[in-house]
Amino acid sequence: MTNPVIRPRRLRTTPALRRLASETRVHPSELVLPMFVREGSESVAISSMPGVVQHSIDSARRAVVEAAEAGIGGVMLFGVPDVRDAIGSGATDPNGILNLATRALVDEVGGALTVQTDLCLDEFTDHGHCGVLAADGRIDNDATLIRYQDMALAQARAGSDLLGLSGMMDGQVAAVRSALDAEGLQDTAVLSYSAKYASAFYGPFREAVASTLVGNRRTYQLDPANGREGVRESRLDIAEGADIVMVKPAGSYLDVLAAVASMSEVPVWAYQVSGEYAMIEAAAAQGWIDRRRAVEESVLGIRRAGADAVLTYWAVELATWLKEDR
Ligand code: PBG
Repeated sequence: MTNPVIRPRRLRTTPALRRLASETRVHPSELVLPMFVREGSESVAISSMPGVVQHSIDSARRAVVEAAEAGIGGVMLFGVPDVRDAIGSGATDPNGILNLATRALVDEVGGALTVQTDLCLDEFTDHGHCGVLAADGRIDNDATLIRYQDMALAQARAGSDLLGLSGMMDGQVAAVRSALDAEGLQDTAVLSYSAKYASAFYGPFREAVASTLVGNRRTYQLDPANGREGVRESRLDIAEGADIVMVKPAGSYLDVLAAVASMSEVPVWAYQVSGEYAMIEAAAAQGWIDRRRAVEESVLGIRRAGADAVLTYWAVELATWLKEDR
């Protein structure tokens, strides 16, 4: 048999045909840039994430203007406070760094892109956990929900368009939704990090937010072995009123992403996390991988698996390349 009847290669013959046969596209408006904002007037490099910095509010203002010009969909803000305590007071203080930065960036870009905020206590607690602790040292799920409700109100009042609930506490979406609605904040949207895994790929992020965590998050984040459980968590969050659900990390969890995308009635996003960024940057710096092609392929794969939008530290650079390609 030397004359195949079916020749799939035919559609790969020319660049024009390949473009026409392409099933998946990435558009700048589907990209969200995570940004770190610290106190003080200097921005500080993050050594494990070359090219990413802890911004001062001023440098964050410049970066968000650049992001808007690149046409990306939004920015997701993380605060890096100077002072931390047991209950994460800085998270609910209207003048805490995250709330101050939110106000500043909303003021800077208005509606040109969405300003989103991470809603979790870990950057603000002295023990580094995502919740408050009970007397025996365990996470107090329900006491944490009350802190999340207060944090949601502070972020919404600071002007955040979309609250990114990343703490993996049971009932957090319903708790935050009811608190917002009770205060007349019905229009503030909720993005639930519904399938968030206890992952080694968050490593560089710990430096990025100067995390004080000792131990791990395995009593609240998902076991990397569990795909079905990620779907279940997403289903629960949709039922609790999440406007968007998310799978995180992305690259090692594409099966979970595809499964959630196939059942979800709300948009499904994915977070390409700090370790995924660092791995490609490190290999590229050694000359072991073509940086641009690897970045593009990694995000394309996440879109192909079913993500409607992708949080990625390359959002602005990738958007710029996409414009060049047109
Ligand atoms: C928790 C949070 C984390 C990340 C985003 N939100 C850290 C964690 O759960 O340990 C990680 C993001 C990344 O690694 O890029 N506030």
